[in-house]
Amino acid sequence: MVDASIANRYIRRSLLGVTSFLINWNNYDHRHFLLLVYGIQSSPLAHIDVKFVFCNLTKPEQRVLIALEILRFNDIIILNCTENMNNGKTYTYFPSLPRILSRPYDYIMKADDDVFIRLAPLALSLEPLPRLDLYYGFVIPCTSMNPHVDYMSGIGFLLSWDIVEWIGNSNIPENNTNGLEDKLVGKWLKMGNKAKNRFSNKPAIYDYPGINGRCSNELIPETVVVHRLKRWDQWSKVLEYFNVIKDLKHSNLYHL
Ligand SMILES: *[C@@H]1O[C@H](CO)[C@@H](O)[C@H](O)[C@H]1NC(C)=O
Ligand SMILES: *[C@@H]1O[C@H](CO)[C@@H](O)[C@H](O)[C@H]1NC(C)=O
Ligand SMILES: *[C@@H]1O[C@H](CO)[C@@H](O)[C@H](O)[C@H]1NC(C)=O
Repeated sequence: MVDASIANRYIRRSLLGVTSFLINWNNYDHRHFLLLVYGIQSSPLAHIDVKFVFCNLTKPEQRVLIALEILRFNDIIILNCTENMNNGKTYTYFPSLPRILSRPYDYIMKADDDVFIRLAPLALSLEPLPRLDLYYGFVIPCTSMNPHVDYMSGIGFLLSWDIVEWIGNSNIPENNTNGLEDKLVGKWLKMGNKAKNRFSNKPAIYDYPGINGRCSNELIPETVVVHRLKRWDQWSKVLEYFNVIKDLKHSNLYHL
């Protein structure tokens, strides 16, 4: 039997691109860990693909090792850009997507690799919001509650597909490529008079407790994103708090 309330809902497709600069091509351990963290989550409302975004590979051995990873996990996007800190990846990421994806998504998200995103609460928080012209995230600065001023932090932000297409077609981005990447996105949208619908999801998005006075928060049940997870003890505390391992069955094969 199908749960009608779920069957009648439109299942939205999102692409979560993990684009942090810490994700360099040989950071296999961390990518593998993130694949686990996202692979065991699901939401009845959404289909969410997680991919790691690189610029051009530079060493011959990368082609083989990354090819293996793609064969097994299909988790990699390689953009036509060179890896450097403040120029290129975001600028290349959004404009490239309409061209390189075989079919559109409803939303495109960009996130850091030191965040834990809870996919079901994320999908739930998007459900009541407008589907189009949407810019969703955590508005800078930490204390600001007005998403119409300034831009969404690189912790993790999301654009509706129409905006991604606009970025791909407009000549505003190509004429404005200097500056902090996440800030640039806000600038393009402002110049283009786009993203009338904005949602800064506070306090559901925050830095890990005690890391940064103003952006930090205690872990709370309605959390969507926890940021600045740099150590295993922080990750394990977060995964336990949100019951990520609750479905583990008792077995004679292991004892934890
Ligand atoms: C990739 O980027 C280089 C340098 O910006 C450019 O010359 C080249 O045409 C691009 N290739 C594709 C396929 O877009
Ligand atoms: C990236 O690699 C492709 C294919 O090897 C090449 O055509 C392109 O020019 C490179 N782009 C940059 C920005 O180096
Ligand atoms: C972008 O730059 C080009 C070349 O400098 C110029 O022709 C064009 O009008 C500019 N577009 C915008 C939207 O500023």
